[in-house]
Amino acid sequence: MAGGLRIGILVSGRGSNMQAIVDGCADGSIPGAVVAVISDTESAPALERARRAGVEAMFVDPWAYSCRAEFEDAVGDLLEERSVHLVLLAGFMRVLKPGFIRRFKGRIMNIHPSLLPSFPGIEAQRQAIEYGVKWSGCTVHFVDDGVDTGPIVIQAAVPVEDGDTAETLAEKILCEEHRIYPEAVRLFAQGRLVVEGRHVRVLPPRGVV
Ligand code: GAR
Repeated sequence: MAGGLRIGILVSGRGSNMQAIVDGCADGSIPGAVVAVISDTESAPALERARRAGVEAMFVDPWAYSCRAEFEDAVGDLLEERSVHLVLLAGFMRVLKPGFIRRFKGRIMNIHPSLLPSFPGIEAQRQAIEYGVKWSGCTVHFVDDGVDTGPIVIQAAVPVEDGDTAETLAEKILCEEHRIYPEAVRLFAQGRLVVEGRHVRVLPPRGVV
């Protein structure tokens, strides 16, 4: 893509995945730039982190709109005004409505802290500990109309050890999140992801046969 991929990131909290993507763009491993960070939470540390990195960061108040669809239209307008091509959810704690997903069809990715389809939804790490699984991990996927159901791009597994709590597991998983999310974005930016139904194929780098 000429000039690199224009990326918008939706956040609700800490913003460590957002930071990993911003860093990947800054060090050249992702051929693109984060041009907007939008939060539904005014106090999200992610906003301050984005500003410190020189990225435009905006709070959009969901309560200022009469319904969720209107809020999402406003967010979509801000992204389109900045010519965002890829929308990343990075700890964005809202389920997007079909209208928004249609608007950015095939161009929204999410990171989720479990090996999907296990443990979708909230508190995935706690769900994994309570279930007693021996392995958990994280998943980068394209977003569809379901909750954490879209085609899977990359997963990484981490062992669950005796004594692990939701918090210690979350820390281990987060390290892998910071590795695979920038990697998935890099592949997208290089035009190497092909979605065929539920399957995401990764094309070899250009010039390699
Ligand atoms: C991450 O662990 C991410 O996978 C999770 O929230 C955390 C955000 O951390 N997302 C979800 O649970 C979405 N269902 P961060 O703000 O430091 O990137």
